[in-house]
Amino acid sequence: MTQPSSMFDLIGEQAEDRPYYETGGRGRSHEFYTGEEQFRREMDRIYGRRWLPVEHVSRLRDKGSYSTVGIGTGSVLLLHGDDGVQAYHNYCRHRGYKLVEEAVGRRQSIVCMYHCWVYDRNGRLKSHNGTYLPHFFDKSANGLLPIRTEIRHGVVFVNFADEATAPGGFPDLDETLGEFGEFARVYELDKLECVQAKDYSVACNWKLVAHNVNESLHFPTAHKDLHRITDFDDAGTYDLSGDLVGAWQTIRDDYNSISMTGRSDRAPMPLVPDGDLRKVNWITILPNLLFAFTADYVFMQWVWPETPGTCYVRHFWLFHPTETVRSDFSHEAVFALWDKANYEDWEMCERTHRGLANPHWAPGQLSLDEEVVSQIDSWVARTAGGTR
Ligand code: FES
Ligand SMILES: [Fe+2]
Repeated sequence: MTQPSSMFDLIGEQAEDRPYYETGGRGRSHEFYTGEEQFRREMDRIYGRRWLPVEHVSRLRDKGSYSTVGIGTGSVLLLHGDDGVQAYHNYCRHRGYKLVEEAVGRRQSIVCMYHCWVYDRNGRLKSHNGTYLPHFFDKSANGLLPIRTEIRHGVVFVNFADEATAPGGFPDLDETLGEFGEFARVYELDKLECVQAKDYSVACNWKLVAHNVNESLHFPTAHKDLHRITDFDDAGTYDLSGDLVGAWQTIRDDYNSISMTGRSDRAPMPLVPDGDLRKVNWITILPNLLFAFTADYVFMQWVWPETPGTCYVRHFWLFHPTETVRSDFSHEAVFALWDKANYEDWEMCERTHRGLANPHWAPGQLSLDEEVVSQIDSWVARTAGGTR
C-alpha cells in the first residue's frame, strides 16, 4: 500500500448532513446526562450488548498475565491462558467472592481467598476444599464463566450479549470498528508498549468525561500547558464510519511533542505520514475509549461508568518498542503533562455534573468546535433509546 501524505487522504471531514444538526447543535436534557433510567438503559443496551474495548495486548503478553476491568457493578478478569487471552467474570463460582482486586499482574493460578477453590490460567477449576458428593459436583462445569473475547489491532474487546437473543442481531466487531484499522496500522498499535497506566475516580456521569476528552475548546481556559503546545484553532472533525468519532488538531510550530517540554528526541513512528508528524489524531471507539495518536506516542483513555453520578478513568501511555528499549528512554514529560491535565479535566467534569444535576437545566448551544460532543450524544441516544 502506498503511504498517504496525511490521514486526510484516507478519511474526509464531516459533511453537511452530520448529527450536529439533529438537535440544532443543542445539548440534551438533565435526565439524559444524570438520570437513573437513562443510566440503566445505557448499562443494558450499550455496556451490556456492544463490543467493549478493555485492554491493550502489551499488558498481557506472557502466559499467566492478567488484568481486571470494572464495568458498572460487574468486573471482568482477563487471563492469558494456553490459547491466548480470554475474559471471564471476575468472581468465584462457589459463592461469588470477587477473585482479583488488582488492576494487573501475573500468576499461574487464581486462588479464591474465601474457601480456597483454585482455578488455572485457562479458567478451569483445579482444586477445591470441602466435601462434595460426586453425583452433585462436576468439576469441569465449575470453571470461571467466560465472556466472548476478540483481539483487533492490539486491543482486547469483550461482549456480554447473548448471540441467540441479541435484538437486531449480534453486532459485528469489524463493522463497528470502521476505519479504526487505518489509524492502528499507521501508528502500529499492536506493537506498542504500555509503559504506564493510571486509574482516576471521577464524581460525574461517564458521558461528561467522554465529552470533555473529545473537545479542545476548553484548552485555553483549563489547560495552559496543552494550550501552549497545541492549537485548538487549527483543528477539524473527521467523518468516520462505524462506532467511531474523531478529530485532529495541530502541534504549534516550535514544538514536536505533546509533553511538558513540548519537545522530544524520540524518532517519529516510522509509518506516520509527513502531514501528521505535528498533529494529534483524536479517535474514540464508542462508547468509551479515546486514543490520542501522535507521532512519538499514543495514549488510550477509557471512561468506565459506575453509577449515574460516578465513573473511573483508566489511562495508558504507549510508546514504540524501538524507543522503550533505549537506555535513555523517559516518558516523564509526557506523563507529567497528561496527569496534570487529567486532574484539571476531572474538576471541570465534576463541576459540570453538579450543574447538570439541577432539574431546571435547559440545554445550551454547542459550537462547531464541540461537534464530537453532539456526535457522542446522538450515538448514545440512538443506541440506548429512551430520553433525548
Ligand atoms: S467463594 Fe470462592 S471458594 Fe468459596
Ligand atoms: Fe481537557
